[in-house]
Amino acid sequence: MRIRKAVFPAAGFGTRFLPATKAIPKEMLPLVDKPLIQYAVEEAKASGLEEIIIVTGMGKTAIEDHFDTSFELEILLKERKKGDILKKIEEVSELVHFAYTRQKKPLGLGHAIGITRNLINSEPFAVFLGDDIIDSRVPVMKQMIGVYNKYKASVLAVQRVPRSQTHMYGMISGKKVAPGVYRVTGLVEKPKSNPPSNLAIIGRYILAPEIFQALDATRPGKGGEIQLTDALQILLKTREIYACEFEGERYDAGDKVGFLKANIAFALKHAETRVEIRKFLKGLKL
Ligand code: G1P
Repeated sequence: MRIRKAVFPAAGFGTRFLPATKAIPKEMLPLVDKPLIQYAVEEAKASGLEEIIIVTGMGKTAIEDHFDTSFELEILLKERKKGDILKKIEEVSELVHFAYTRQKKPLGLGHAIGITRNLINSEPFAVFLGDDIIDSRVPVMKQMIGVYNKYKASVLAVQRVPRSQTHMYGMISGKKVAPGVYRVTGLVEKPKSNPPSNLAIIGRYILAPEIFQALDATRPGKGGEIQLTDALQILLKTREIYACEFEGERYDAGDKVGFLKANIAFALKHAETRVEIRKFLKGLKL
């Protein structure tokens, strides 16, 4: 079955970016000139996905407004003959089809996925965690769909991380079955010690619809939340799961340092900013 739908959990409070995120969603913080969430939405579109389901919560209406048409703004730009900006604005609202659902309580990533059950039904689907910004030649989800098409099973994006960081991720163990592809043999969410390997789950997943039954059976785990990693461990008892060590540079934009690094890296690539930013960085007396 073709992957058509993508779930974007976006109900978190963005506490790591307070006070910036007191009145605006973290997903709307700008990376050069586009909000964070737009990068993953563009990746979804470039990977051939057609429908995006955003799981929102309190104070997240700016996300809906961003992907909607803005009649007044478009008229104004037309009157002022700002055709180039108008084009950019129109492109955003024409990206893909969007649906929204709300997570009423902050019960974790697994819970956020679980509430999309009626919108997904019984087809495999993608999940994007918008904090993970990945700059790659081939969109990461497209790389993963390639693995999915071969094995017809759930696929997780993974990356090798230093031992000092294994407590920050869902960690897997796996058996290599092809270059950069592993059959997952175990998963553990943010292990305090003895990680099963140095392969960390990064925020891109292709999930078989049986994940919903696995989520039903998942009890609160790390932080008292329903963890997707724990549900995947349950799914693994009856279904194969694969991991794809993707090609690309990943930034953890959910963290201050990662967010700033992503801004610098993308500013150095952006046609309007790269020359000045390069000059500025070179001139810094560090
Ligand atoms: C979530 C997942 C974790 C995964 C990470 C990737 O954690 O629970 O398994 O490794 O995303 O970014 P979070 O970063 O939301 O705490």
